[in-house]
Amino acid sequence: MRKTISLAVALVCIMAGVAVADDACLECHTRISPGQVNDWRASMHAENDVTCSDCHGEDHKTAEDYKSAILPDENVCADCHQEQFDSFAAGKHNHGWTVLNAIPATHFAPDELIEGGRGCGGCHNMGIKSEAQKAEQLAKGYRYQNNSCDECHTRHTFSAKEARNPKACQQCHMGYDHPQWEMWSSSKHGTRYFAKKDGDLPEGAVAPTCQHCHLQNGTHENRTAWGFLGVRLPLPEDEQAAADRVTILKALGVLNPETGEPTAILDAVKAVDMARLDQASWQGERDKMLKVCSECHSAKYAKEQLDMGDAILTKADRLMAEAIETVAALYQEGIIKKPEGYPFNYPFILALMHTNGANWDENLDDLSYIDQVLLQMFFKHRMRAYQAFFHVNPDYAYWYGWNMMTQDLGEIKALATTLRAEHAAIE
Ligand code: HEC
Ligand code: HEC
Ligand code: HEC
Ligand code: HEC
Ligand code: HEC
Ligand code: HEC
Ligand code: HEC
Ligand code: HEC
Repeated sequence: MRKTISLAVALVCIMAGVAVADDACLECHTRISPGQVNDWRASMHAENDVTCSDCHGEDHKTAEDYKSAILPDENVCADCHQEQFDSFAAGKHNHGWTVLNAIPATHFAPDELIEGGRGCGGCHNMGIKSEAQKAEQLAKGYRYQNNSCDECHTRHTFSAKEARNPKACQQCHMGYDHPQWEMWSSSKHGTRYFAKKDGDLPEGAVAPTCQHCHLQNGTHENRTAWGFLGVRLPLPEDEQAAADRVTILKALGVLNPETGEPTAILDAVKAVDMARLDQASWQGERDKMLKVCSECHSAKYAKEQLDMGDAILTKADRLMAEAIETVAALYQEGIIKKPEGYPFNYPFILALMHTNGANWDENLDDLSYIDQVLLQMFFKHRMRAYQAFFHVNPDYAYWYGWNMMTQDLGEIKALATTLRAEHAAIE
């Protein structure tokens, strides 16, 4: 409909010899930023007469007043793409910016890496920002990064095909604590995808991509059963497994280590959908995934594979809990002093995330190393152990995952012994 109207308008303009407002934008920007105009010309937007001013407004007309151009947020896209906007808003990507800012470590990092969008903020610029979040960003002097849609459909081509390529996910889903790109691309699923692209498999050969498993049928709503943290409620029936999960929840600050009661951090976790908090919401996501696997595998085979992933996570949590308890004992014995800002006299994994101890509290200088090993065990090696299982990658699952966790645990135990001996010598 819109297309018909704007085509008609354009025709009338051309016939009447009237310069449309965008001629000025195009004329000037072809000189100053030709690549941009070129990309726009190649887009479905240009083809459908969606012009520069549809997204940027008409207030900026000269080289001097360029700051009056609107930098369009997702709501501008929603005017014409309500369906994608709504499903994006219902998914986990919509919480990216909020979770980032909820982590204490973020506020120790240089603004260039957050608001400036090249560190944490480069990947966490996902989510529709509230007016308050926008105001905060502007107050710090940063006016870009208003749009998450261009994270998969880059400007100014805004292509659907680009977003279907698994490389669209790579920039963010790689590296330290979520190397899904590395795991998938070197798994048999990824191998088949690349072999097919090279023409070495028949045209119709199946090869699942990130999008195939996580954004089925064009939905923009993403969520997995376990999520990033790999914790959930209700607690498992097995007593040891339940106790280990509780230990991890304490180290995440979600449960009070002294009373075992939920803390305010649990409310924050709920608000950003960080973990599934009842059986039904976990099972719902799991069932969706099983349906995807069953397109190409037998349902029984797929269920066994995912059940094994759950079992590995439980086994990884046994190692993790032992490590946390070892460090926690040092806090309780007064060998490690509770850093300022920690909610409890207990290791606090979320606060330490990606910082070094010296940054957080200078008292931590000498004693922080053991906490750093604990942090690495949680965010790097435990993540690998189960994420790799789900992404069918043997090397990551064993060498970078399970094997490294056992090394971390050994190191933590050795460090605890040394710290205890040093402490006794001083006393
Ligand atoms: C007289 C030349 C001229 C015209 C006409 C013009 N622009 Fe610009 N525009 C500029 C210059 C110069 C900049 C500053 C960017 C730079 O340094 O390259 C700019 C910047 C922008 C920016 C970035 C704003 C920011 O905050 O960084 C947008 C968006 C933009 N123009 C869109 C448009 C649109 C849409 C139109 C038509 C309605 C338009 N421009 C017309 C020259 C022009
Ligand atoms: C479909 C909407 C849309 C259209 C059409 C569009 N833009 Fe943009 N443009 C964006 C978005 C989104 C951003 C990123 C905003 C941000 O980072 O906050 C942007 C950013 C920019 C910037 C600043 C960032 C940079 O990379 O330089 C300039 C300049 C710009 N656009 C110029 C143009 C020009 C010129 C046209 C027409 C040829 C155009 N835009 C058409 C959506 C659009
Ligand atoms: C004024 C209406 C309008 C606005 C605003 C608009 N679009 Fe579009 N967009 C269209 C039309 C029309 C098409 C082509 C038909 C279709 O695919 O729906 C399109 C197509 C697309 C496509 C599919 C392109 C392809 O390769 O098939 C993407 C992706 C897209 N838009 C993203 C965006 C994003 C992101 C924004 C905001 C930055 C935006 N659009 C703003 C009208 C708009
Ligand atoms: C290379 C991109 C990248 C960088 C840099 C990055 N993150 Fe992330 N972050 C992600 C991705 C991708 C996820 C989701 C991973 C998953 O689910 O496995 C994520 C997940 C998270 C989560 C959990 C969200 C949830 O709901 O489970 C938190 C909290 C977080 N990041 C905080 C940070 C902080 C703080 C920084 C900087 C100190 C940071 N991230 C840097 C990409 C990044
Ligand atoms: C995480 C990556 C990602 C983000 C972020 C993203 N998209 Fe998409 N988008 C996709 C993928 C993948 C497709 C292709 C879907 C398909 O054809 O199966 C797509 C397709 C589209 C299409 C084309 C639909 C069609 O039927 O051709 C539009 C329009 C679109 N997205 C708009 C948006 C808007 C608006 C936003 C922001 C609210 C957005 N996208 C954010 C991944 C993304
Ligand atoms: C064959 C299907 C499949 C493919 C392909 C796939 N994943 Fe996954 N992904 C899964 C399964 C299964 C899980 C775990 C689901 C659960 O918790 O039950 C998962 C979990 C995730 C998670 C949550 C944390 C984790 O790793 O457990 C993220 C983020 C993710 N995948 C991103 C990606 C990205 C990015 C790609 C492409 C580089 C990708 N996935 C490819 C099936 C797939
Ligand atoms: C610009 C960075 C960025 C890109 C590009 C990106 N993601 Fe994400 N993704 C994130 C961040 C950040 C999170 C964590 C957000 C949160 O949970 O608060 C996330 C979370 C996820 C999750 C949810 C995991 C969970 O906790 O359940 C899945 C699944 C996912 N992404 C898949 C994809 C796929 C598939 C693509 C490519 C089509 C993609 N992402 C592209 C940054 C990105
Ligand atoms: C689009 C089709 C497709 C989907 C969807 C898919 N797979 Fe696969 N998968 C394959 C193909 C093809 C192979 C290669 C078979 C082989 O190794 O002979 C494979 C290989 C595997 C392997 C390795 C098998 C081996 O013998 O080494 C496992 C495990 C696996 N898939 C599990 C899953 C799980 C779990 C899911 C769902 C989360 C899933 N797959 C979704 C097509 C798919």
